[in-house]
Amino acid sequence: MVGAVPKERVDSPAPGPEDKRHAPATARNREPIAEVLGGWLPSSGRLLELASGTGEHAVFFAARFPQIVWQPSDPDPLLRRSIQAYRHSDGGANLRVPLDIDVAARDWPLDRDDLPLDAMVCINLIHIAPWSAAQGLFAGAGRYLSAGGGLFVYGPFKRGGQHTAPSNAAFDASLRGQDPAWGLRDLEAVTALAQAAGLAPPLIREMPANNLSLWFVKQGPDQESAEVNP
Ligand SMILES: C[S@@+](CC[C@H](N)C(=O)[O-])C[C@H]1O[C@@H](n2cnc3c(N)ncnc32)[C@H](O)[C@@H]1O
Repeated sequence: MVGAVPKERVDSPAPGPEDKRHAPATARNREPIAEVLGGWLPSSGRLLELASGTGEHAVFFAARFPQIVWQPSDPDPLLRRSIQAYRHSDGGANLRVPLDIDVAARDWPLDRDDLPLDAMVCINLIHIAPWSAAQGLFAGAGRYLSAGGGLFVYGPFKRGGQHTAPSNAAFDASLRGQDPAWGLRDLEAVTALAQAAGLAPPLIREMPANNLSLWFVKQGPDQESAEVNP
């Protein structure tokens, strides 16, 4: 079920510059990601970002794609304050107040008027969360995307059960050391989740630092699950 949630919420006290968090990787990856998004996102429409983190990506991408209504979200209240702080200082009219969304939750607090979504974006989440987050993310894409809409997923992945670089193997080991439920995911397992949710196998773009950009398109009710990536 989709609950009615006000688009604007009052923050008390109002988030200020001291609430801004900084994730250094966003400064490195935002330009390459924006370039790929530019080729895959619709020219306009409603987009939901999951696991927005600091909000640095949201404010940058919303400015880059002004015809898209950019809805950030994160389950961490301190990060939602950070998103709000960036939004107040640098956000344009198309950047919404962040929502509290845990992708693993069965229902997400989205306004009915905002559905269906034209696109979803999720950057650097599914390896830094239990597998249930990946399951919830793709289930949500199946529930909330319009047919023809797409889910963008970015991060490091294993392919064919193998790491694609020694640095990814080391990163995987360090993640599992922090939490055994975390770790790099197999692209094939993620693709299987997507297909179970009614999304086609992804377009794939190799990115700097051994990351991948993936674009999963939600299929219509009468579409066969076809391979889009030759
Ligand atoms: C590594 S950070 C990535 C943040 C941002 N996307 C970026 O690339 O800078 C992971 C983010 O996932 C969020 N997160 C963790 N578990 C989540 C869940 N179950 N649902 C949604 N977001 C989650 C965290 O709060 C955090 O903001």
